Amino acid sequence: MPVLNGKELRIVGFLCNWCSYGGADTAGVGRFTQPTDLRIVRVPCSGRIDPLFIAKALLNGADGVLVSGCHPRDCHYAQGNFYARRRLEVMKRFLPVLGIDPARFEYTWVSASEGQRWQKVVTTFTERIHSLGPAPRHEETEMPAAFKKETAAARGLPAARAGASSLEELKSAIKGELAGLDFVIGWQKGFDPLHHTPLFMRSPEDVDKLVWSPLNTQNPATYLASLKGKKVGVVVKGCDSRSVVELLQEKLIERDSVKVFSMPCSGVVDLAKVRNALEAKGASPGRITAVEENGNSIGVTVDGESYSFPLAEVAADKCSRCQYPNALLSDHFIGEAAPVVSGANADDPDLAMLDSMSLAERMAFWRYHMDRCIRCHACRNACPLCVCRDHCIGQSREPHWISQEHSLTEKLMFQVVHATHLAGRCTECGECERACPMGIPILALKRQMNRAIFELFDYRAGCDPQAVPPLLSFLEEEKKIHEGGL
Ligand code: FES
Repeated sequence: MPVLNGKELRIVGFLCNWCSYGGADTAGVGRFTQPTDLRIVRVPCSGRIDPLFIAKALLNGADGVLVSGCHPRDCHYAQGNFYARRRLEVMKRFLPVLGIDPARFEYTWVSASEGQRWQKVVTTFTERIHSLGPAPRHEETEMPAAFKKETAAARGLPAARAGASSLEELKSAIKGELAGLDFVIGWQKGFDPLHHTPLFMRSPEDVDKLVWSPLNTQNPATYLASLKGKKVGVVVKGCDSRSVVELLQEKLIERDSVKVFSMPCSGVVDLAKVRNALEAKGASPGRITAVEENGNSIGVTVDGESYSFPLAEVAADKCSRCQYPNALLSDHFIGEAAPVVSGANADDPDLAMLDSMSLAERMAFWRYHMDRCIRCHACRNACPLCVCRDHCIGQSREPHWISQEHSLTEKLMFQVVHATHLAGRCTECGECERACPMGIPILALKRQMNRAIFELFDYRAGCDPQAVPPLLSFLEEEKKIHEGGL
């Protein structure tokens, strides 16, 4: 019988075998009265608890999740709970962006001898969940009519503009290195003048096709992790260079096997914004026959009709907050370093919009957006740091984490997996969002994760090849984590 009045709620508890499970057992043996809402999953150590366990339980109908392990310094495996503490705290700060009340998740420490403490923990947590009531489900939220995508205010873009002479210099630098490399990755003109595509340069004639322009939207570093064993070159913008740094940091590529070429970047165009702007001006959806880059604007000719747009209006949102117009790492940097625009990085329209919403509104936001997801996995495939795509748990049958069901929960869970796997690793190049054919603002999930990582550990991914990622390390006394609210 439940100790609390009323209906029993679904609370999942992940308890480490050596301490908290023993503590729960001690409470049972001592006949301490406890609520019966908790369903316990015994795990070898709190370090075994993937934060995705929590997200999966909460997305699939749990009203609360409780994690409990050995007290710090008492872990049976010495450090498991120190690692767990960082991961669990990051997950706690991530949940609200999904519209889930973070109070529905708690982690704490209970030793095998603390039967009485276990009784207090489980009673307090169960009371808390009862006061919150049954958890609202994404599927049950009312479908909003639409969410307008906010765009970054045009605060200006990095001032750099690589001239034709710089491009020629860049080409000759690549030609000079080509003999020692299998190929160099850059960009070329695509199937129409608006769409540039990746270019694999194997000969000087290939190098002559290289372009440097705001239409170079892709991140060529995406290919690097799959090219192990080859000696390659890569032409990067400042933001792309962070992916190279992160790949080096994670030893997914070797410094001796990669030559990095770069020039200062003045921002790239968001092609979806160009399409929307053309539509707003009444342009017929026809063939794009010419694109002109005129300093701070871009001219597009559709079926003989020309339209001009200020670059700041059609630039990718990431460019208006860019702090890295110059590559952080390069073997050949051509041109003068661009100054960082002051005030950049201050806000993100999607995050600011989510911040201003209530939990219920955020739930409706994801209900609206994830309903449109077609599970094409383009977001994952375009991500330079999503490197286990052959064994992706989003598709694997063993373990079978996510089904292929076309349901909101499964689709959102896939994005949570992606964001969680990128915690402390995402360099915010925006490839996931750029590649999404449905225009779902999924970068907001990674940026929320990054914000939590920065607040907790003062760390930005992809800035220092020697730095240890925060979720692969710990401090015995964490300055900014105050766990154990029970
Ligand atoms: Fe209990 Fe590691 S064994 S937390």
